[in-house]
Amino acid sequence: MSNFYDKLCPFYHLIFEDLDASIEKQGSQLSAIIESNWSQHQTVLDVSCGIGTQAIGLSKYGYRVTASDLSANEVERAKQEAQQREQTNILFSVCDMRTAFGHHGGNFDIVISCDNSIPHLLTDDDILSALQQMYFCLKPGGGCLITIRDYDQEQRCGKNIVKPYGKAKIENGKRYVALQVWDFDEQHFQHYDFTLYMIEEDLNCKEVVTHAMHSRYYAIGSEKLIRLMQNAGFENVIRLDESFYQPVFIGTRPLT
Ligand SMILES: C[S@@+](CC[C@H](N)C(=O)[O-])C[C@H]1O[C@@H](n2cnc3c(N)ncnc32)[C@H](O)[C@@H]1O
Repeated sequence: MSNFYDKLCPFYHLIFEDLDASIEKQGSQLSAIIESNWSQHQTVLDVSCGIGTQAIGLSKYGYRVTASDLSANEVERAKQEAQQREQTNILFSVCDMRTAFGHHGGNFDIVISCDNSIPHLLTDDDILSALQQMYFCLKPGGGCLITIRDYDQEQRCGKNIVKPYGKAKIENGKRYVALQVWDFDEQHFQHYDFTLYMIEEDLNCKEVVTHAMHSRYYAIGSEKLIRLMQNAGFENVIRLDESFYQPVFIGTRPLT
């Protein structure tokens, strides 16, 4: 799976309409959710930071951010993106979120995993183990915040389902068009193979190269994720809509 993101890494910004605008907007929205749900909130651990979208956004809002991801290439790029935006205090490292507590230790105020990272874990046991690690990374009273695609609203069957990413992007004389293709597992309708096609056209010589990256997702529904968060020990677990571009799931590590 890290291979998918290692390959996507140089193109990652191209799937955003405007990476800087997303960093700013997501930082502001996540900060508002954090402020209204938890009273103490200075330190944030992002266990699936990718190229740093939320980590950089929250750092700009004054949080002390520690960030990790399974993909070494993305972590390297996240460091560069943070430097370019003068957010040099973020501590970046490579880590599988299923070992987050062993790697980062505990006592964080907030732990996050955003933009559909959790569904890369393909079994309930794996998701539970990541959630338990997130729980142990928190101080008592600390908050967990997860965002995933709204699988309750998705058609969970079929193959060759095409989902384009907004507009094409032009960069350095090349046009980039990104598409997702989903192929559901037709036995259980819970998992799907995912191919991201990045089509790159040189606008001078018209040569076209297509990069295809493969991964797999668990189309986990809200009810199941909420139950797993509760099983991991979180209390007051709820789904929030309309405060972010994806549904947000929050829970709190009990004080005792
Ligand atoms: C869609 S990306 C989101 C990245 C980032 N949060 C963002 O919004 O830009 C999903 C991320 O989950 C990471 N990921 C998947 N499985 C992981 C795991 N077991 N531990 C840590 N990161 C993981 C991937 O490497 C990828 O960076």
